[in-house]
Amino acid sequence: MNTKKIKSILSLCMLIVFITIGAQVKPTIYVLATGGTIAGTGKSSTTSAYKAGSISVEQLLDAVPDLATVANIKSEQIANIGSQDMNFQVWLKLVKRINELSKDPNINGFVITHGTDTQDETAYFLNLTAKTSKPIVLVGAMRPSTALSADGPRNLFNAVACAASPESIAKGVMVVMDDKIIGADDISKTNTLSVGSFDNPNFGPLGIMYNGKPIYTRTSKKKNTIDAEFDVTKLDKLPRVDIILGYVNTDKVFVDAALNAGAKGLVYAGVGNGNMSGEVLNALSQSVKKGIPVVRSSRLPAGPTCQWDEIDDDAHNFSASWYLTPQRSRILLMLALTKTTDYREIQRMFTEY
Ligand code: SIN
Repeated sequence: MNTKKIKSILSLCMLIVFITIGAQVKPTIYVLATGGTIAGTGKSSTTSAYKAGSISVEQLLDAVPDLATVANIKSEQIANIGSQDMNFQVWLKLVKRINELSKDPNINGFVITHGTDTQDETAYFLNLTAKTSKPIVLVGAMRPSTALSADGPRNLFNAVACAASPESIAKGVMVVMDDKIIGADDISKTNTLSVGSFDNPNFGPLGIMYNGKPIYTRTSKKKNTIDAEFDVTKLDKLPRVDIILGYVNTDKVFVDAALNAGAKGLVYAGVGNGNMSGEVLNALSQSVKKGIPVVRSSRLPAGPTCQWDEIDDDAHNFSASWYLTPQRSRILLMLALTKTTDYREIQRMFTEY
C-alpha cells in the first residue's frame, strides 16, 4: 500500500473516531411532537390564516439543521393537533411515554412541541406528573412554519439546547419561547399575537437562552416532578373539574350547570382577590356541603388569591389558589381529587405546588 492510501485510510479512521466520540458526548434529546402553530402551514408567508398541526416532527426537525450541533435527536409524533383540542387522553399518553423513556440512561432530556394556546396547561400537568428530574422543555411558535420570520425554528433550537444543558436538570418543567425560559408553575400566554407573548407575570422568567446556552437567574421554590405526590400511571381518565368565571350580576346558573354535568370539583375565577356575589358564595358553599370541593382563584393576570381575605375560606371549607391561575388550579384540583376531597389537604397542596 502506498503512503497516500495509508494517509487517506488513517484520515477516514480518525473521522469515524471523531464522529463516534462527538455522538457520545453530545446529549440525546427526545422530541415528542403534539402539533400546534409550530407545525402549522399557511397559504402565504405574509397573511395570518393557517392550519395548526400540519407538518410532521421529521419536517419540523429538518428545518433546523443546527440542532445537530447541540444534541443527538430522537423523535416521536404523539399527536398532531391544534392545542385547543388537547385532551386528557393525549396528556396521559404523553406523561406515560415520558416516564417510560426517562428510565433509559441514554436519554438526557425531553422537548415537547405544542400549540401555544394551552401550552401553559400541559406544562403544569407534566410538572406535577412526570417522574423524572431530566429536563422537560415545552416549545411552540406564534407564527406558522411558512410565515415570514417564523419563530418556530429559533424556539426549537433554544428548547433543545436548554434541555441538553446539565444546568437544566431538576428545574421542573419549563417552557422556552422568544429566548425566555419560564417555569411551568407560573407561565401565562399574555398576548394573542406577539412572539413575546409568554411570561411569568408574577416573578419573571427563570432565565434566558443566550448563544445556545441557558442563563438561569431564579429557581422556583414550588414542588414538581419527582417531588410531586401524584401518580397517573394507572389512570385512564381524570376527574371532571370546571372553571366558573366571575363578573357583574353573576347568579348561580353556571355552578348548578357544572354540578349537573357531573363536576367533582369547582374552581371559581373570581373578581379581584377571588371574590364572588352573595348568590354564588351561597351556591359554592352548598357545593362543598355536597362533597364537591371548591377552589377560589382570580380572573386577574397576576397576584395571589389569598386565604381568609374578604372571604373566610375556613367558614365555607374553600381552598384558595394563591399564585395559580384558574387553569392551573383546575389541573391541581383534578390531581388532588385522585387522593382526597378534604379542603385542608387540598389547601396544603395549593401552598406546596
Ligand atoms: C394552538 O395552540 O395549537 C394554536 C395556536 C398556537 O400554537 O400558537
